[in-house]
Amino acid sequence: MINKLEQQFVERFNQSSSVKAFAPGRINLIGEHTDYNGGYVFPAAIELGTYGVASLRQDRELHFYSNNFKEDGEIITTLDSLDYNGAHQWANYAKGMIKYLREQFDDIDCGFNILIEGNIPNGASLSSSASLELLIGWLIKALFKLNINRLELIHLGQRVENQYIGVNSGIMDQFIVGMGKKDHAILLDTANLHYHYVPAQFGDYVISIMNTNKRRSLTESKYNERRSECETALKDLQKEADILSLGELSVEQFDSLKHHIKASLPMRRARHAVTENQRTKEAYQALQQRDFKLFGQLLNDSHHSLKNDYAVTGVELDTLAETAQQVDGVLGARMTGAGFAGCAIALVHKAALKQLEYEVTSVYKATIGYEPSFYHVTVGDGVKTLG
Ligand code: GLA
Repeated sequence: MINKLEQQFVERFNQSSSVKAFAPGRINLIGEHTDYNGGYVFPAAIELGTYGVASLRQDRELHFYSNNFKEDGEIITTLDSLDYNGAHQWANYAKGMIKYLREQFDDIDCGFNILIEGNIPNGASLSSSASLELLIGWLIKALFKLNINRLELIHLGQRVENQYIGVNSGIMDQFIVGMGKKDHAILLDTANLHYHYVPAQFGDYVISIMNTNKRRSLTESKYNERRSECETALKDLQKEADILSLGELSVEQFDSLKHHIKASLPMRRARHAVTENQRTKEAYQALQQRDFKLFGQLLNDSHHSLKNDYAVTGVELDTLAETAQQVDGVLGARMTGAGFAGCAIALVHKAALKQLEYEVTSVYKATIGYEPSFYHVTVGDGVKTLG
């Protein structure tokens, strides 16, 4: 892939690229919609991701080209024109990163060309946008030799989502894309960003990714709505309990306080956040003890809670996860990422992979009308320079 991009770069821009990098996508094993509630998440970087090559220019122009969005052509702007512009499509994620980096670094004082290509399926809730943000950050860091570390880039990526794009997302996606490590998941406490690497090994079991292939719609507005429902619940609880986030509450504490949450929807959203946080800690313990069966059960419980209390699944994700849960050799399955569309994951015995695909495809096709896709990916590193 990268050699092809280097060649194409020369053809398009009449110069060689001077830096090349890769940023992964991610799956989240468990801990969904907990990252903006001060809870735990348990994601892993995957070897699908975004590749990019870049070089400095003599002027102040910025030229972006993506092989995934050929119809947008070469998107051109300048260092002096970095505000959000709908016409600039995907390049807004890049412009946002550059704008915020320029606030910190005067060194970014000439233009550059960037060519990218990703192999994360679009809109699959595997974090193609965080992958793009961190890739651009990494390329700019290399081009201008900026003294900025991974965590700072992670924060900038989240700021791009929140302030530049307008999605009030938590920090999980940028964190795992920035910090991922081959063959490891990260258990991250979003309350204080303490984290540690956990071998993502499941014995004879593997993670299968199942894509609904549903076009995403309204995801951003629904996402922001869920976040504000959690905030409403938190405010009600804070009148009674001295807490900064829902993530501080055990399930028992929540049960004894929940009647203080005035409306029923915020109560259910908060109940998901609290129980999911508990499940994430239990899943970590289960993995440490190689209790894959319990791990799988927790995945099932997570999906159930995301469906019934958090209402972010929908018929496509439910059909994938719930059909997978019934297949012999599957220990558990759940949606992954923001929800509404995108992907589910299943923990499945290696010998049952074919059967999983067969059964899920036939039920999904009969129920939804078109086929899902399946990916078997290995857990890879976070954003990195390519040699
Ligand atoms: C999206 C957001 C993350 C997280 C997940 C849900 O991926 O970007 O911050 O909230 O949804 O767990």
